Amino acid sequence: MPSTRNLSVRNSALITGASDGLGLELARQMLAKGWTVGIVVRSRDKALSGGLAGAALYQADLSQASQAFISDQELCCYDVLVNNAGASTFGSFESLTSEQIQQLSQLNFVTPLVLMNRFLRMAPSNAMVVNVSSITGQVPMPFNGLYSACKAAMIAVTQLARIEGSSRDVKILDFCPGSISTNFQSKGGATSHVRAGQAMSAAQAAGILLKAIEQGKTGVIRPDKVAKVLALATPRLWMPLSRLLARKSRP
Ligand SMILES: NC(=O)c1ccc[n+]([C@@H]2O[C@H](COP(=O)([O-])OP(=O)(O)OC[C@H]3O[C@@H](n4cnc5c(N)ncnc54)[C@H](OP(=O)(O)O)[C@@H]3O)[C@@H](O)[C@H]2O)c1
Repeated sequence: MPSTRNLSVRNSALITGASDGLGLELARQMLAKGWTVGIVVRSRDKALSGGLAGAALYQADLSQASQAFISDQELCCYDVLVNNAGASTFGSFESLTSEQIQQLSQLNFVTPLVLMNRFLRMAPSNAMVVNVSSITGQVPMPFNGLYSACKAAMIAVTQLARIEGSSRDVKILDFCPGSISTNFQSKGGATSHVRAGQAMSAAQAAGILLKAIEQGKTGVIRPDKVAKVLALATPRLWMPLSRLLARKSRP
């Protein structure tokens, strides 16, 4: 738990899903710059082998409803909450089990928003929430419908919470990637449609996010080209394209 706070500078962050990919890179870069970092991971060993020994570690499976892994007192010691953990399961909606639907919704939507709600109620006035969403929340991907729906819901709540404003003047940022080169797709059983070289590295994406956090940015950040281009697609344009994509990507 961070023990000191400089009220004018954000210098402590709690990052969910920091054992791999974007979260791991962000935690590494923050630690290297002297931030106090707390990480929420499901595997302690994986986090330690990733070089995050300097971080406070909270162990939790975020696809489960309990948030007992962190107390209100611990949570409000951080200046920045980064809701980064996420996963998808590639396949038709019909093929998902009820258990998968509940767990994926909990991980990608319910858990981050309950954490955000708890944080907003207690955070210091200088605080910031970053929700890592996805461009699939704007352009839903075939065989990734539930994940797309969770990210769409996350985007809606994030944008509206920012517009509503928080009683503690907390800054709220939607970090909305398109394609980052991590193990995300393979863990979910999908093959990426993005050509090699088009995806941004996790280190680059984390660098962009850290800069935005340091600058106290709000609104939406689409860090990579894929996100920027797909954000231009209107629903009317996207529907025929997604039919084509469904034909190409049927598992
Ligand atoms: N990669 C992309 O192209 C892309 C595009 C758009 C949005 N995003 C979003 O970016 C965020 C980070 O993804 P990434 O690409 O860095 O993927 P990643 O490398 O798979 O990392 C995801 C992180 O979430 C953790 N996690 C997954 N399920 C969990 C659970 N049940 N409980 C606790 N932690 C769990 C993972 O832990 P383990 O190490 O234990 O698996 C890992 O630390 C996600 O929210 C994702 O939706 C990614």
